[in-house]
Amino acid sequence: MKKISRRKLLTGGSLAAAVPALHALVPHQGLHDALGAGGGRRGHAHRSRDHHTGVVGRVDPRVNGFDPHEILRDFDWGTVRREGGRVVREWEIVAEDKEIEVAPGVKFNAWAYNGRVPGPTLRAREGERLRIRFTNGSKHPHTIHFHGIHTAAHDGVPGVGRGNVQPGESFTYEFDAEPFGLHLYHCHSNPLADHIAKGLYGAFIIDPRDGRPEADELVMVQNGFDTNFDRQNEVYAVNTVAFAYMHEPIRVRRDELVRIYLVNVLEFDPVNSFHVHANFFHRFPTGTSLEPAELTDTIVQGQGQRDVLELRFPYAGRYMFHAHVSEFADLGWMGFFEVV
Ligand code: CU
Ligand code: CU
Repeated sequence: MKKISRRKLLTGGSLAAAVPALHALVPHQGLHDALGAGGGRRGHAHRSRDHHTGVVGRVDPRVNGFDPHEILRDFDWGTVRREGGRVVREWEIVAEDKEIEVAPGVKFNAWAYNGRVPGPTLRAREGERLRIRFTNGSKHPHTIHFHGIHTAAHDGVPGVGRGNVQPGESFTYEFDAEPFGLHLYHCHSNPLADHIAKGLYGAFIIDPRDGRPEADELVMVQNGFDTNFDRQNEVYAVNTVAFAYMHEPIRVRRDELVRIYLVNVLEFDPVNSFHVHANFFHRFPTGTSLEPAELTDTIVQGQGQRDVLELRFPYAGRYMFHAHVSEFADLGWMGFFEVV
């Protein structure tokens, strides 16, 4: 069988040829709807083909139990206690096996931290003590490996310290919040690419001691999904659901400072990128300095790379943002800001 272009999964350039082959490769129910070949439900406004993306239908956030629009501004500060005058922040994180929908009708058997992909955005202040109780509710061994500075025993790597946390078991990771910046956490069990690509990752923000200027803050975790196990991604997104911000743009205010915490956890592709239309942003690499390194409109990120981006929109209107790896944009990594 001739290899099917990844592009056809979502936009279906040649549907007659693509659909039977895709059914063999990706036997997911509802794919007809995603491809626009379902027929029967056409005419219903909600099912009509989007003229920007070619995609039919939308992912209902109730099916996944999480909403990419809520993830944008959802920061998990944990529970605070004081020990010897010091702030200790605590979280409970559970890994589980969970089917999610990453594009209309395209299901993916994910592994998720706290039921969502990406996992919760953990947020703390520089210098605090952090304690993360991890329970593995999945059928596979997992860990949590945090970026940041800490001891080997709490690095979440197989064979070091506690190493793999087996199904049904728990382990508590503990370390200081340093350095300030935009970090991430992810599972580090083997095979590593698979444990990450299945969905075990999240953003991890350490605020500078004195904070950053007031802003409308947005978390964007760039990810992708290999839905047919060929070690290529068929679906690309920010915060998991393809085209979520095309179908419902991100509303921001004109002239207000917007701060984007941009993380790239994409597997199987060496780089990802971010481009915003009709505007420029300040780039703070890894968020570890309060002085911007660059003023630009496009950045490239390797796997695990992060940047804090700051911008203001001087004009009202609808402005696109997307991966400037254009193929990713066509496969889901594309959205709009609605400036009001
Ligand atoms: Cu894992
Ligand atoms: Cu990493």
